[in-house]
Amino acid sequence: MVLAAVTRRTRGTVAWGVGHGIPRLAVRSLAARGDLQGRLIMQGTGGGDVSGLIEEVRALGPLPRTRLSLLSADHAVVKEVLSHADFRTGDPTQASGLLERVSRWANRDLLHPLRAPSMLVTEPPDHTRYRKLVTRVFTARAIEDLRARTQEIADGLLDALDPDSPVDLVQAYCSALPVTVIAEILGVPADEHDAVLRYGAMAAPSLDLGLDRATFRVVDQGLRDFDAWLERHFARLRRQPGDDLFSRLLAASDEDGVLDERELRSTAGLVLAAGFETTVNLLGNGITLLARHPEQREALRADPAGWTNAVDEVLRVDPPVLLTGRMAARDTRLAGVDVPSGAQVVALLAGANRDPAVFDDPLRFDVARPNARDHLAFSSGRHYCLGAALARMEGEVGLRTLFDRFPDVQLLPGARRRPTRILRGWEHLPARLRPEGAPAQQS
Ligand code: HEM
Repeated sequence: MVLAAVTRRTRGTVAWGVGHGIPRLAVRSLAARGDLQGRLIMQGTGGGDVSGLIEEVRALGPLPRTRLSLLSADHAVVKEVLSHADFRTGDPTQASGLLERVSRWANRDLLHPLRAPSMLVTEPPDHTRYRKLVTRVFTARAIEDLRARTQEIADGLLDALDPDSPVDLVQAYCSALPVTVIAEILGVPADEHDAVLRYGAMAAPSLDLGLDRATFRVVDQGLRDFDAWLERHFARLRRQPGDDLFSRLLAASDEDGVLDERELRSTAGLVLAAGFETTVNLLGNGITLLARHPEQREALRADPAGWTNAVDEVLRVDPPVLLTGRMAARDTRLAGVDVPSGAQVVALLAGANRDPAVFDDPLRFDVARPNARDHLAFSSGRHYCLGAALARMEGEVGLRTLFDRFPDVQLLPGARRRPTRILRGWEHLPARLRPEGAPAQQS
């Protein structure tokens, strides 16, 4: 027992050192020397604004090279990298050779969103196998059927708030709505929502590189707790299947035997976590943009059919996922640049979304923008977000319901960004639903 505890602690230290400690030192030193990728990592950590850096990348051309990787903020190049068979996903924290072997030993029992068998970092044929199972139950029809229930949940959450007292909209609405929806879809009992939210919040920085030791420990614990909870949840659903997508997913998987237990937990866990860790940001970012642009709220009041497009415009201007990465599987050429096998390419989704070659006056927030949907906030190609339809539906219902009932939501001082670098959103959004002195409205 003592030996097991020591081994686990040693593994933890090594996993942090290889995955974060060493890269962290390297990144800090590169940033100090002005390296763009290093600065992007350092400045983005803590939720800092990186818009200026993204424009620096763009000014250097479609695919500038830094000491760590190639980078792109160009819509066409980002799309090509995400769609091309020559560029593959992989674990960005794993170096080659000895370090890779050490890292594998240190991390061997932990399910992690950036380590196989996570769908995010696997490629065909395994990736196709995982994705097929989820799309069998996660159909567009199944999502559209959830619209009425999502509306009820949004109404219920707003009913419970006092419009005349300050409220933290992230806690009371933006995170509560998606977690309730996805938890119902996946058969999570109501009294376990808070625990699942807590594991999600603990594990959210797992996508970021160069974590400090304390954050790494919290993330590690969050991932372990989440995995242990998933194991219990699966056992319960197998004993007593419900009319939820997880029960259907388990039945489909058990029937075919196409996924082993670990693959199934990884796949289902990603769907659950991705289901609330990103949509909370869509809602928070949308509320902030709309609260700051009364003329856009007015346009939506005049044309409520515009809400669908407004959600895409929010995703374009302030995407919940800043970037993703790929590695060249062989020597290749991209945007006139030679890319050697093994080179990393960072695809700045937020940069592609502000490419002036695709979007006129890209910094302007315009809910009626005709091509808002061309954004790459949900990625592109094989790994295109599996939850895009659900996220769009929740974004639309969530934002429209809030602004229909409280058209003059007033943001109060004290808003704070989430500290994560890749997941971009708000941690706290203090607000008053009805501005002081405003007459009570019919809701
Ligand atoms: C606004 C909300 C959301 C955003 C911005 C978002 C964004 C993304 C992005 C950028 C990727 C691909 C990453 C890459 O190419 O490396 C992705 C993949 C994924 N998303 Fe989402 N997502 C959102 C909501 C959701 C929801 C609600 C779910 C589940 C119900 C979900 C499930 C997934 C899954 C399972 C993948 C992996 C797909 C694959 O690798 O093949 N997402 N998402």
